[in-house]
Amino acid sequence: MTEPLEGAAVTVATMSLAVLVSGTGSILDAMVAAGLPVALVISDRPCPAIALAADHDIEAVVVRRDSFGSDFDRDAYTVRLTELLVDRGVSVVAMAGFGTILGQPVYDRFAGQILNTHPALLPAFPGWHAVRDALAHGVSVTGCTVHLATLEVDAGPILAQEPVDVRSDDDEASLHERIKTVERRLYVETIRSVLAGEPTATGLPVPAGASEGVRR
Ligand code: GRF
Repeated sequence: MTEPLEGAAVTVATMSLAVLVSGTGSILDAMVAAGLPVALVISDRPCPAIALAADHDIEAVVVRRDSFGSDFDRDAYTVRLTELLVDRGVSVVAMAGFGTILGQPVYDRFAGQILNTHPALLPAFPGWHAVRDALAHGVSVTGCTVHLATLEVDAGPILAQEPVDVRSDDDEASLHERIKTVERRLYVETIRSVLAGEPTATGLPVPAGASEGVRR
């Protein structure tokens, strides 16, 4: 929840959405094309998505990881990123292919206000290789899941899901691209509902903080 500053006048400003990325950014592109109020894009590394944000005149910041090894200080990194979100008055955070697992500090500050999209029907196939794992298990149907992000990876309450058929000639790339085609629509629809304070596809009530706007 974003709390009002003590003693300050409380006004509700325009909703502000931050998107966290690490890859190509095709889902970010769909959000922008759909007119979602993306005010800030953050990546953990240089990537095409950050250039895409800059192309759209959206503030784009690389909060660079100093390590991808066992010495990575996850909480310190999370605090850096959280401070940026707070500084920019962000009200909802959408992870879209973000490659760093964030620590507790961001969930303390933005509880119930962080969304994620995952390329499988959770709770099946959590983790980094969801599409590869689905193919390896020989499933005939997989899909995508939009959920509230929690400290436990790919485990938060589900807001929307949609199935995608697996074809006999699919490889990881072709299946992932068909899933992403669905994600680009389903994630946009779900974020729009959250920002409007409306029930999502699963009817899950989204915590009030996610649609209250930025309080100053
Ligand atoms: C999506 O499939 C998302 O679910 C996964 O990473 C992919 C991001 O794709 N976590 P893109 O970078 O937006 O094209």
